[in-house]
Amino acid sequence: MLVSAKEMLQKAKAGKYAVGQFNINNLEWTKAILLTAEELKSPVILGVSEGAGKYMCGFNTVTEMVKAMIETLGITVPVALHLDHGTYEGSYKAMEAGFSSIMFDGSHYPIDENIAKTRQIIADANARGISVEAEVGAIGGEEDGVVGGGEVADPDECKMIADLGVDMLAAGIGNIHGKYPANWTGMRFDVLEKIQEKTGEMPLVLHGGTGIPADMIRTAISLGVSKINVNTECQLAFAAATRKYIEAGKDLEGKGFDPRKLLAPGVEAIKDTVREKMELFGSVGKA
Ligand code: 13P
Repeated sequence: MLVSAKEMLQKAKAGKYAVGQFNINNLEWTKAILLTAEELKSPVILGVSEGAGKYMCGFNTVTEMVKAMIETLGITVPVALHLDHGTYEGSYKAMEAGFSSIMFDGSHYPIDENIAKTRQIIADANARGISVEAEVGAIGGEEDGVVGGGEVADPDECKMIADLGVDMLAAGIGNIHGKYPANWTGMRFDVLEKIQEKTGEMPLVLHGGTGIPADMIRTAISLGVSKINVNTECQLAFAAATRKYIEAGKDLEGKGFDPRKLLAPGVEAIKDTVREKMELFGSVGKA
């Protein structure tokens, strides 16, 4: 059964750990992440961007696949199916398709419009028991074709959005999607501290979890971050393991081509990455 992300994140905030959001792209990734969460008894959030949703034949296909997998694999840990960086229209489509959590990314709108749209989405999502993540201050880098400039959020604007009743808040603090450039100036923990002071119990979300050093992750969690998104790192691990397998000529061994064997090393690499992150985020055994 899918659950909203609200309760698992409130528990994480109170317990000073973070729940990982791992983005899914296909059946193999989904299975790898669910099995690892179950193995480690960790709550988990499956992130789906609008692009990944289209690739997987639409949100309905994704919901049915995830629900069936939870049942067939006997997954007992809390699993939230979450729209990542949703548009206004996309947020409604995901809700209708049965997602249990959505992120409405209104960070590119003027703050008044971001507030108005977020308010409407919260009302409609809450009525269906769906949790809502909002964003203030665009996260840098490129995410599924959407390029953000790496803004640092204004703590007062964060408070305005938090007060609307969102369940979790993503605030840009210099974090970037994808690999961090060599000249990255790091994260603005001073700003995170102010956001945390102003938003109190609100679980904060850190996007761009790939490549952030472990000590920075621990500091972010100590300052109120309760959800950390990871996407690129799983992609890199999958690609490296698959390349190694192909370069060794193993895909051509035996009788004919077996896609299940070709994808297996990449799946194991995703599991290793998810395991490592869940340990670092402190969510192991918290389900
Ligand atoms: P990375 O691709 O940097 O891990 O970021 C993921 C993310 O923030 C998804 O919203």
